[in-house]
Amino acid sequence: MKFHPAVAKSSPTLLGRNQGVLQRKLLASFATISMIFPPTILPRGVAQEAQNTKPSMQDAKVRQRADALLQQMTPEEKAGQLSQLFLFTKPDAAMESRIAKGQLGSLLFVTDPSVINHLQHVAVDQSRLHIPLIFGFDVIHGLRTIFPVPIAMAASWDPDTIERAQAAAAKEARAVGIDWSFAPMVDIARDPRWGRIVEGAGADPYLGSAVAAAQVRGFQGAYIGAPDHIVATAKHFAGYGAAEGGRDYDSVDLSDAQLRNVYLPPFKSAVDAGVGSIMSAYMDLNGVPATGNRWLLHDVLRGEWNFGGFVVSDANAVNDLQTHGFAADKADAAMRAFTAGVNMEMAVTKDAYDNLPAEYKAGKITSEQLDAAVRPILETKIRLGLFENPYVDEARAAQVLGATEQKQESLRAAERSAVLLRNEHALLPLQGSGNKNIAVIGPLADSKRDITGPWVFVNKEQESVSVLEGLKQVAPQGTQLNYSQGVQISRKFPSMFDAIFGGDKTPVWAEAEQKQEFDKAVQTARSADVVVMVLGERQNMDGEAASRSSLELPGRQQELLEAVAATGKPVVLVLMSARPLELRWASKNIPAILDAWYPGTEGGIAIANLLYGKAVPAGKLPYDWPRDVGQVPIFYSHDVTHQPDKQGTRYWNEESTPLFPFGYGLSYTNFQFSNLRISHDQIRRGEGLDVMVDVRNSGTVTADEVAQLYLHQQSGTSSRPVRELKGFHRVTVAPGETKTVHFNIDKADLTYWSAATRSWVQDDTHFDLWVGEDSNASLHGSFAVAP
Ligand code: BGC
Repeated sequence: MKFHPAVAKSSPTLLGRNQGVLQRKLLASFATISMIFPPTILPRGVAQEAQNTKPSMQDAKVRQRADALLQQMTPEEKAGQLSQLFLFTKPDAAMESRIAKGQLGSLLFVTDPSVINHLQHVAVDQSRLHIPLIFGFDVIHGLRTIFPVPIAMAASWDPDTIERAQAAAAKEARAVGIDWSFAPMVDIARDPRWGRIVEGAGADPYLGSAVAAAQVRGFQGAYIGAPDHIVATAKHFAGYGAAEGGRDYDSVDLSDAQLRNVYLPPFKSAVDAGVGSIMSAYMDLNGVPATGNRWLLHDVLRGEWNFGGFVVSDANAVNDLQTHGFAADKADAAMRAFTAGVNMEMAVTKDAYDNLPAEYKAGKITSEQLDAAVRPILETKIRLGLFENPYVDEARAAQVLGATEQKQESLRAAERSAVLLRNEHALLPLQGSGNKNIAVIGPLADSKRDITGPWVFVNKEQESVSVLEGLKQVAPQGTQLNYSQGVQISRKFPSMFDAIFGGDKTPVWAEAEQKQEFDKAVQTARSADVVVMVLGERQNMDGEAASRSSLELPGRQQELLEAVAATGKPVVLVLMSARPLELRWASKNIPAILDAWYPGTEGGIAIANLLYGKAVPAGKLPYDWPRDVGQVPIFYSHDVTHQPDKQGTRYWNEESTPLFPFGYGLSYTNFQFSNLRISHDQIRRGEGLDVMVDVRNSGTVTADEVAQLYLHQQSGTSSRPVRELKGFHRVTVAPGETKTVHFNIDKADLTYWSAATRSWVQDDTHFDLWVGEDSNASLHGSFAVAP
């Protein structure tokens, strides 16, 4: 797998094979820091890298230090390092005593720096070997400042933006004492019924791999222990996104070819980018639970990929090995996970890994096995600098959280993520003149809660900007904004997170009120020049345990949309959700549709800027948008089979093409692709080639376009997809300007896992190549590979 050189240039650690050299260069520039500041007075996160001038020497030193500790540790202390517990409230005496005995290595969900410092003091001052705790948290898309949800960031097709956003999130996390994020989620999702589609990069392994690496670089910086950065976790290893029926946690059955060619590449990319940890998944994969799956966690992850970090289980997943009907009891569950390759157990309360010392004493585990499991955890703590600087500066934390710098990054990411799906008669951008009176309608239009999306716990709701508020700030002076909610929406079964953390307490409208509000919204539309409707799903309708069986706009939103459109006023639909919703009617009847995802803290301003043309949409869909839930799964990269000319009419009742294809997204300008140049008609196996294309902006505004390159292999050991993304690059082009975009295709792009040979193959054959603005790109070329 490789990425476009222009992308790689701005992101030196992207390419795994270059990582060593580049990392050494970057580390060298930090070498002088330790001379200026002696390590003891450096803030947390700064000391360690100052000493790490040479990764090879550093690796040896880190290992020596970890091994010296291992030699002194009892089996109970070793098992302690392998144990992680949730802490939602204040620690109790039992937990503190466990920490003081050195029998707990990590906590998650603690976000208050004073509690972190307190618990760290217990670990460092009271435990026999003074080993600090490592604090983990789900920093999925921000901590206090919330960034667009991960699927939105993927829609930016801009690794640099993604890296910057996760770096800003890491900064806030590290400031409060969180050392480790349970992100990125790199699960491929081809079924939008699955709620966790919001946390990933969508349906495509190539885009997913680029996004995975960008997130790892953002969280971790140039190396583990870089200042203001944290350890990343690629999760959920592996195949979790292919849950049967899109039902969260349900079983997954995937062929080796699907796993190798589609579901594993983003994990491999994260490993190549140096990710520090991997989280094992909940579900069973082909009959073997992922958390007890030695083939995945050992043979592939460590054996084939040389992963040197540590594996953490998903929450309670070790105990779940009994639930799966896999392990006989808790001790067996611990043994099955441990021997499969799970280093740390994330436990809710009843930890299975408490059984490890007894298993060791009974001779079922060797001391080498135990040490091998503990070593990478100690090494991570050493690299993070936690031994030198275990505590955080609480006053600094307060300054860092929610600072303007992070808010600006969030705004930028939100503007770059939105996807313009439709814009008839150039309704957008809105012109100030003629649009003096704007109706702002919908259950998500003035919601400060929903605009941030799921997986937010530490943000302050009042700090986020709703669409209505954003429009108030951005609309030209004299614009009148009239708001009406219209309808309420809710889940049939309550959200797991609302149950734990408390949900929205807004009272549900009685029937009379429902009618009144609906009518009021239509009335508000009637007296407007233009209507902005903000519809979609509430933040707790996407995410974990948030699958759904339909893709309709929930509640009475479709009815409201139709009633408002019936007034004859021009309607702009702003969609807020993380999955493709049913838009068949809207895509014919609503002139402008902007998919804003869940854009985060600054979302309202970003949307207003996009609506008024202060920012130009350039996001592209990271999945195919089905017409109907019955088409799921649908993706552009299917194989070519019998009667390919009838691909669009496989159903007798409905087109079998997507409503919007993968890679699709409009702009406020027009782009033309031309002058496709391919450096070679024929290459030898193992060689690469260059592709160039010109992108011209023939409109009147400066805007970004994402040039996309797709390949199709015409024949070979296996049949291959009709098209596969193999390169992309987001470029800014001024009006009248033409830019040349370069792609490089290498051996990795032409290699795949063949079910015929059960191995990686590169065939000598002919390839079609297309370059353009989405997966329907028509500018065509070809080349051949000879032996
Ligand atoms: C989720 C993980 C998450 C963990 C800790 C689990 O339920 O599947 O993605 O990191 O909880 O919050």
